[in-house]
Amino acid sequence: MNAVKIKSVGAYLPSNIITNEDISKLVETNNEWIVERTGIKSRRISKGEDTSSIANKAAKIALDRAKVKGEDIDLIIVATLTPDNFTPSVACIIQKEIGAENATAFDINAACTGFIYALEVGRSLMAVGRYKKALIIGAETLSKIVDWSDRSTCILFGDGGGACVLETSDSKEGIINSYSISDGKKGETLIAGAVDVNNPFIEEKVEKHKYIKMNGREVFKFATKSMTSSIEKVLENTEYTLNDIDLIIPHQANLRIIEYAAKKLNLPLDRFYINLEDVGNTSAGSIPIALNNAFEEGKIKKGMKIILVGFGGGLTCGSTLIKW
Ligand SMILES: CC(C)(COP(=O)(O)OP(=O)(O)OC[C@H]1O[C@@H](n2cnc3c(N)ncnc32)[C@H](O)[C@@H]1OP(=O)(O)O)[C@@H](O)C(=O)NCCC(=O)NCCS
Repeated sequence: MNAVKIKSVGAYLPSNIITNEDISKLVETNNEWIVERTGIKSRRISKGEDTSSIANKAAKIALDRAKVKGEDIDLIIVATLTPDNFTPSVACIIQKEIGAENATAFDINAACTGFIYALEVGRSLMAVGRYKKALIIGAETLSKIVDWSDRSTCILFGDGGGACVLETSDSKEGIINSYSISDGKKGETLIAGAVDVNNPFIEEKVEKHKYIKMNGREVFKFATKSMTSSIEKVLENTEYTLNDIDLIIPHQANLRIIEYAAKKLNLPLDRFYINLEDVGNTSAGSIPIALNNAFEEGKIKKGMKIILVGFGGGLTCGSTLIKW
């Protein structure tokens, strides 16, 4: 089995900043409530850029940093729940944009855990020798599916994306282990409908809920439990314990969820990288954006042991253990 390492990272956020104050002009809410319950102060909202455009900008930064050309990439996986189209996939659009003529390209959807799932799929395919250089992206334009009249959800989400270049490696560094699990029984707690079944042969049409609808308290419970269990699970059967971990990069959904997990795991909060204050929850974009920001801030050094951990719609959760 080949070892697989993250060679580079990149991220892109739309420039348009929407503060809590701005949202309070749309729905009955206020900055204090949002900051106290979520830790979020502002988020970036697209002024027309779709997911492929966001993903493309993040991907190009990661490729430049890795000094890898599009034609050298043989696998592209994009995690998103807000693709531009049903087809072509965002991954195929990126393939065209970066000239990755030799690549297999496809999207996956595991909502906010998408990037973790995409890393696991990419790494597994590379480990068995099928591919050598992959581009793994998590990107969203959640503002397309946010119900801007629902104050319990529209305060949470933002647009953006991140990417990384994966490479097979001879050394022991890289992705050490990954863990994932899904719970479809709880799917109804966080939904966003696609198109309705509508054709000339239907007698009674059933309309789906088009926008994000969430049972916040149920998702909160799942998030806190799954974050701690995913961190514990990814360390199982490895030579590492929680004490060896230098940095945890969690899905950036809510500061209270991260604080709760830190307390449960008996870890100081500064072991967690947090950037949700001015990014919000960007679903599949969240973890790669945080990874990129931590890298740019010099918080990631060679040899560090890092855990990426996510949870989200599906319901889904998972984690990745990395030796950088
Ligand atoms: C959404 C969330 C912030 C709500 O916080 P909460 O403490 O659970 O709040 P509740 O939903 O119980 O609502 C409490 C009250 O605040 C009100 N409220 C909800 N949103 C509000 C807002 N934006 N501004 C002001 N009041 C609001 C509710 O109507 C409710 O009022 P009531 O008591 O009069 O009925 C929280 O549940 C959460 O973060 N859940 C996880 C969501 C998540 O991370 N989802 C993505 C996962 S990938």
